[in-house]
Amino acid sequence: MALQAASLLPPTISIHKEAKSNACLKETTLFGVPFSTHFSFPLHLTQELRKKGVAAGIVRAQTAATTPAVDRAAPQGKKTLRKGTVIITGASSGLGLATAKALAETGEWHVIMACRNFLKAEKAAKSVGITKESYSVMHLDLASLESVRQFADTFRRSGRPLDALVCNAAVYLPTAKEPTYTAEGFELSVGTNHLGHFLLARLLLDDLKQSDYPYKRLIIVGSITANLGDLRGLAGGLNGIQSSAMIDGGDFDGAKAYKDSKVCNMLTMQEFHRRYNEETGITFASLYPGCIATTGLFREHIPLFRLLFPPFQKYITKGYVSEEEAGGRLAQVVSDPSLTKSGVYWSWNKNSESFENQLSKEASDAEKARKLWEVSEKLVGLA
Ligand SMILES: NC(=O)c1ccc[n+]([C@@H]2O[C@H](COP(=O)([O-])OP(=O)(O)OC[C@H]3O[C@@H](n4cnc5c(N)ncnc54)[C@H](OP(=O)(O)O)[C@@H]3O)[C@@H](O)[C@H]2O)c1
Repeated sequence: MALQAASLLPPTISIHKEAKSNACLKETTLFGVPFSTHFSFPLHLTQELRKKGVAAGIVRAQTAATTPAVDRAAPQGKKTLRKGTVIITGASSGLGLATAKALAETGEWHVIMACRNFLKAEKAAKSVGITKESYSVMHLDLASLESVRQFADTFRRSGRPLDALVCNAAVYLPTAKEPTYTAEGFELSVGTNHLGHFLLARLLLDDLKQSDYPYKRLIIVGSITANLGDLRGLAGGLNGIQSSAMIDGGDFDGAKAYKDSKVCNMLTMQEFHRRYNEETGITFASLYPGCIATTGLFREHIPLFRLLFPPFQKYITKGYVSEEEAGGRLAQVVSDPSLTKSGVYWSWNKNSESFENQLSKEASDAEKARKLWEVSEKLVGLA
């Protein structure tokens, strides 16, 4: 279990010096953090800081969204007062739901909750008090490329403009002994988290290009990274038959498959930035939202892990972030007029201030990003 907990931490990202207190960003194991570090900070003080951090995150997001919509990106200084439209994948729980709520509450965004379970998404929206007129649910199963294509068509038929796309949904299968597969036969974690989002983002790029909103953004939620090797498994179709189910061609490892998919997410964001930022003015960005130890992401983990992981993150590593605070962070990346820089991997320091984090060597390998793009577009039928 200790190793599994460590596997959720982002061991290969570089740490900004202000982020030192966020143990979630450290290379550590469940019991590997020195005790002097654990208890050097009185608990009540940490909680106080956390409270302030939560408030800061939300206020920033709200401030950003209530700022008059003046065009900072377009040279003409064009103004618009219409509501922005944002698509958030996986908005039926956890980070996606908290982000949907934070954006909807500003009154300046209409949120399209792109979810595989319509009823669950509707109930989730109601349970957190998102008002009827500020969201719609549209069906999207990222584990089916056909569903992704249908979603893009349905969205287009809705007649809404697209101002921001948030690729947030993910599956994490750390205890799986054998791979499972998407409708088209790709290993499920990479197939859902990377290939489904890759196709979605490519299909909706033109819609984003056409947006006249002051700032238009494509955000892909990042996290821990792993080594993808030479992509031989992916190039072979990731189907466990002619090729391995793992990107690097190795034996199946559910926790690594998730980390692999997250490297793909971050490489994809950068490749989008290199190919399209200058031409389109779209901001492409990724983020590490913090350790949101309570979300459904860990639903496949063993019960003991699910019991111990949140307190471990809260009191030992102190890397814990509530769903509300993490949602405020992602909402900030979507809507804060000051976060228009493209190609950035955002993180937050202990005072909940955003900063540009360094990507790991693997996640910043431009040649790998190019190759991943080319292999992925073949797999999803775009090339
Ligand atoms: N939790 C953390 O500590 C943490 C840390 C770093 C990064 N992240 C990232 O944060 C993002 C959100 O994760 P979370 O922690 O909020 O987990 P979560 O609560 O489990 O949310 C994941 C969402 O993805 C959806 N989803 C899964 N498979 C899908 C599919 N085939 N098609 C469409 N939607 C699908 C789920 O839908 P259902 O509701 O239908 O299951 C759910 O809404 C992920 O990208 C994750 O990598 C999380």
